[in-house]
Amino acid sequence: MISALIDLTPADDGGLAARLTSRLRELIATGSLGKGRALPSSRRLAGDLGVSRNTVSYAYEQLAAEGYVEASHGRRPVVTVDGGERSAGTGAAVARGRSAKPRLSPWALNLGQTDWPMSYQASLKPLRPGHGDFREFPNEVWARCLRRSAVRATRRELGPVNRTRLREVLAHYLATSRGVRATAGQILILPSAQAALTLIAATVLAAGDEVWVEDPGYPGAAAAFRASAARVTGIRLDEQGMQRMPGLAAPKLIFMTPSHQHPTGRLMSLARRTEFLNLSRSGRTWIVEDDYDGEFQYDSRPVPALQGLDAHGRVFYVGTFSKVMTSEIRLGYLVAPPALASTLEIAQRHIGLIAASHIQEALAEFIADGHFLAHLRRMRRLYRARRDHLVEELERQLGGMLSVEVPPGGIQLVARLKRGRTDHAAVKRLVAAGIETRALSGLALGRPRDHGLLLGFAAWRESEISAAVRTMASCF
Ligand SMILES: Cc1ncc(COP(=O)(O)O)c(C=O)c1O
Repeated sequence: MISALIDLTPADDGGLAARLTSRLRELIATGSLGKGRALPSSRRLAGDLGVSRNTVSYAYEQLAAEGYVEASHGRRPVVTVDGGERSAGTGAAVARGRSAKPRLSPWALNLGQTDWPMSYQASLKPLRPGHGDFREFPNEVWARCLRRSAVRATRRELGPVNRTRLREVLAHYLATSRGVRATAGQILILPSAQAALTLIAATVLAAGDEVWVEDPGYPGAAAAFRASAARVTGIRLDEQGMQRMPGLAAPKLIFMTPSHQHPTGRLMSLARRTEFLNLSRSGRTWIVEDDYDGEFQYDSRPVPALQGLDAHGRVFYVGTFSKVMTSEIRLGYLVAPPALASTLEIAQRHIGLIAASHIQEALAEFIADGHFLAHLRRMRRLYRARRDHLVEELERQLGGMLSVEVPPGGIQLVARLKRGRTDHAAVKRLVAAGIETRALSGLALGRPRDHGLLLGFAAWRESEISAAVRTMASCF
């Protein structure tokens, strides 16, 4: 009986008649109601479905108008198309596509290997790690830069994908603030740091290449390298950061966050930096330095980037504006090794990882006019105080449960669970209570050795931090 195939439970679309039309259309398109099949009379179907006859008549008329059925007065409508014959793009093809399992490319299949929750989609709750305080961003100043840039756009010629002015101011800023040695031509402006990692993987990695990443580490990096079918090995950390594993042959690429290890916040020692740079000198190993929040160092003068120590052009330097400004801005950059700059730029255009020109121009002005550094200075003071406040609150209210590692910089910290608890259960309880945190064990590549919570402090005012820690204390 056809009525058994029809479920008219309200969905998000219009009225009953529209739902009935849509369901019948789908049954015809998928071949469930084959060509030549006579549909029930409108009176009969209306009775079976418990709807008015007008509703069914409307559906039949609509299907006739669309060519799915032939209806003549006084006779039952007859299906005129065969679901199996219809061409691509029609309802039938779409419906078949839905039921058949799509065959994916090797790249897409490799995406599934990493369970990596993208954090910038849902609404922000305390104490989600990885964010600065958007409320402190000078929106009015930024809006003026954007406006001026948009107005100038009508007079601008179609320029290069990486805007010259932004490359120049960025080269100057990176040299003076982070010790990065690069010409403007080595800098690619991208929609995110993640885009830089994908671009690097696409450009230098072949299937089966060995890649070392920090363990625990940033899951987005492992995801980008695995998608390129690289073999990703997690390298353990000690107090000096990532350590060279004796007995392991030099890999094709090493990914690291030396200024502020993600997630532990540790600073890589100069001895370690030199050791890895020496390894890369053979010419077979690339280093990717992700300086995602290297601007935020609180307890000493910022340690310069490792890239500045590289005399052999083996380091890719990756940065993002999503921590220093706001993640909404969707801008990052890549300083390419000189020998790869033009190949990477071609790859950038092929993949289409191009940031909007007027935003690039606005950012160039924002930096050149001193607004960027002023904001950074203010945020350094604010975030340092917030870090200290979170540490104090955790020690005061949860000192028996958690041991806090005070990071010398960054926007988040790790609090390890005492007494052999597992972090996933704690995270679940906290999330249910409105506290967003990440399990340290979830950032491990292999078997997790440590259990703890990754807690953000930069995005939250001191009163919000105190309230959040009170809630945490009630959950333990
Ligand atoms: C270590 C690290 N690198 C890169 C990124 C990504 O930055 P973007 O938002 O620009 O892709 C993040 C974001 O959380 C991060 O923690």
